[in-house]
Amino acid sequence: MRGVVTSIRLPRLSPDRVDRVRARLARELGDSKVVADAASLEANAGDESDQEPILPDVVVRAENAEDVAAALRVAAELEVPITPRAAGSGKSGGAVPVAGGIVLATIGMNRIVDIDRAEHVVVVEPGVVLGDLHRAVEAEGLFYPPDANSLAWCAIGGNVGENAAGPRALKYGATRDWLLGLDVALVGGEATFVGRRTKKGVTGYDVAALLCGSEGTLAVTTRVVLRLIPKPERVVTMMATFADVHAAGRAVMAALGSGIVPRCIELLDARTLDAVRARGVAVDEGARAMLITEVDGGEDDAMESAGRVGSRFDDAGALAVLVAQDASQRDRLWEARRQLSPATRAMARHKISEDVVVPRTKVPALLDEVDRISEAIGVSMLTYGHAGDGNLHVNFLWDDDDHEPRVEAGLDRLFRAVLTLGGTLSGEHGVGTSKAPWLRLEQGDLLVDLQRRLKAVFDPKGLLNPGKIFDESARSGTKGHRAC
Ligand code: MLT
Ligand code: ZN
Repeated sequence: MRGVVTSIRLPRLSPDRVDRVRARLARELGDSKVVADAASLEANAGDESDQEPILPDVVVRAENAEDVAAALRVAAELEVPITPRAAGSGKSGGAVPVAGGIVLATIGMNRIVDIDRAEHVVVVEPGVVLGDLHRAVEAEGLFYPPDANSLAWCAIGGNVGENAAGPRALKYGATRDWLLGLDVALVGGEATFVGRRTKKGVTGYDVAALLCGSEGTLAVTTRVVLRLIPKPERVVTMMATFADVHAAGRAVMAALGSGIVPRCIELLDARTLDAVRARGVAVDEGARAMLITEVDGGEDDAMESAGRVGSRFDDAGALAVLVAQDASQRDRLWEARRQLSPATRAMARHKISEDVVVPRTKVPALLDEVDRISEAIGVSMLTYGHAGDGNLHVNFLWDDDDHEPRVEAGLDRLFRAVLTLGGTLSGEHGVGTSKAPWLRLEQGDLLVDLQRRLKAVFDPKGLLNPGKIFDESARSGTKGHRAC
């Protein structure tokens, strides 16, 4: 296994420098926006990943683009690390301030600035919560498809940073597919707009696309311009159950061959179904796998599409195919799906959830390999996620602290298998610190070094969100797991 370490090796600021940084920030931004009390530092130390939380030295609560620029100016002048953060819902350690220093919190910048009904464009600040954005545009008959499962609290700034996706990515793609432009501030405090506000545009490099998914390592977003479409008239939600996960895997391929593009096909394996049952959703005890599938479209054609996909499930051997009869049935099903991450966390003292992707024809092969890994390392595993995209959350669950080396070995084997199957390490959660030791394995030295050089163009001193994506030593290992 490559360079996996269990402690953070990046140097911290001396107490003198911390005092100087806090004083300077307070002078530039005002005392109320610069906080360093224990509760604030703790609240900005971790994210939703398995990575060990690290306390920053100071938190800037930005209220506008000028605050963001001022914090980035101070960081450059005093040469201190600065880690941008929106809601902190990330799952790869991207918002963990691994070198301490400044956390630049943009969650307070939460205005929906403009919903342009004629142009089908929305302009928002980075702290807008995804679910609030959905409600606001849907009230205007418009639709923003990306639907990260943490939509009740994740924020657009983080969605852009990680190129967040979600179940509906199968039909509609991820955040980058909806991003038109960004107002950003650079290390040093200069500000600019990248991208465009129009539907089309090809001038220069696509810098907005580059920044989307750069995990806050290149620039800090202060405003986001997103594309919208008309809200689909009708959504049909289906729940198909199967005798085993392999039958469900085959049914995914059958549905994708139906000529219909469902907006999502979510797979839940047997252990995941136990977690769903434990959350009070009635699922037939004989079912060992489930597909939650949605199609959308016009009033008439959505029902017809659902029929076609449903009959593919029947042909593939579904035990039952049920259609949600009303909004409350549909909401209950989705509530259970969206709660899988906390529900599975409650199943053991320690959990790692990966978000690997394989070509979707290889989903059954991946599921077989997960079984083999689980048996080989003697650690319980479960799998659920966006099977239509080949993007699966493979979870390791264990109670015994001494099992950490086994889990590390299992992770390494999982990642190697995914790459052998022609896949990629992350479909939506990013590299952060958690997958950095394996990036070269996927991308090779040339591409990783090219990206490091690109990073140096934006941030020559490596101050912005240090330790992420490329730094193999910043991973906290599985020891950093919070016990539940
Ligand atoms: C999900 O699909 O539920 C999220 O990406 C989080 C996860 O389960 O790892
Ligand atoms: Zn997911």
